[in-house]
Amino acid sequence: MQRIVVLNPKGGSGKTTIAINLASYLAARGHRPVLMDFDPQGSSVRWVKKRQPAQAPIEAIAAFEKDSRTTRAFQLRIPDHATHVVVDTPAAVDPRQLPDLTRDADKILVPVLPSDIDIHTCSRSIGDLLLVAKIRRDENRIGVIANRVRRNTLMYQALIRFLHTLGIPIVAIIRDSQNYVRAAELGVGVHEMKGHVAREDVEQWGPLVTWLTGASDSTLSPRGPPAAGTRRPSGASAGEGDPGEAPQAAPPERPEDAAAAEHPVAEDVAGEDAAGAELPARAIAAQA
Ligand SMILES: Nc1ncnc2c1ncn2[C@@H]1O[C@H](COP(=O)(O)OP(=O)(O)OP(=O)(O)O)[C@@H](O)[C@H]1O
Ligand SMILES: [Mg+2]
Repeated sequence: MQRIVVLNPKGGSGKTTIAINLASYLAARGHRPVLMDFDPQGSSVRWVKKRQPAQAPIEAIAAFEKDSRTTRAFQLRIPDHATHVVVDTPAAVDPRQLPDLTRDADKILVPVLPSDIDIHTCSRSIGDLLLVAKIRRDENRIGVIANRVRRNTLMYQALIRFLHTLGIPIVAIIRDSQNYVRAAELGVGVHEMKGHVAREDVEQWGPLVTWLTGASDSTLSPRGPPAAGTRRPSGASAGEGDPGEAPQAAPPERPEDAAAAEHPVAEDVAGEDAAGAELPARAIAAQA
């Protein structure tokens, strides 16, 4: 059984979105994921309750509930048939809780948004994971997800440059897409939406799945150029609905490089954004 913790104390970075879509992917592939929700908002649990009986089963554990009738161990017990536990964590987690939250985690996913505030908060969170939770980089347990990206923006390029300086792999680059908003409303994930609607989003999960499982899933691979006369939806390059064509890169050799390799940072990015973003990373590197 694999335990995957989605964590970033910054609110709204996409923890629940990543957790539910990962659970949806695993369930759609015939695995038996359990979503463990530590957030008192209960968004992951609510999403599971919206699912229809015909959909692939996902169990939810409301870990945020304090149930005085049972022991904590009983409340958090994982069903025997579970193949994966995906843990959704709340915003504003105290760094002192990190060792407990991450102790048994095989993988820790840190979604981060391309904004100056989020970049700085993320650098502190990664620092806490390294220093407080005592996770070593060479364990390859932490992966960063650049979420809600719109490529061709300075802030996006600053984010990618900053993430490179952390020495933590960027395991996915997820575009800003209304499909995630719709999927959350419907109790599904993008992997369960119609192919022609969510193809671009689904493909962006390829590097993440490869990093998590150590094997690539060919169903997540780009399927080549569209037929003549059809317009392929644009990717992170321009955001949903914008015109443009995202070039398809050859598969990278190392999964952890996959997401970033598809989105190289332009050399000409300079100025306050990029330079400022590197400062906290250097501080972490010096401490760790
Ligand atoms: N890639 C995306 N494209 C479009 N919308 C997104 C994307 N990722 C997240 N969102 C939206 O951003 C909002 C915040 O996302 P989400 O709830 O997943 O963040 P969170 O980190 O779990 O927040 P919290 O810290 O409050 O628990 C939601 O409305 C969600 O639908
Ligand atoms: Mg959440």
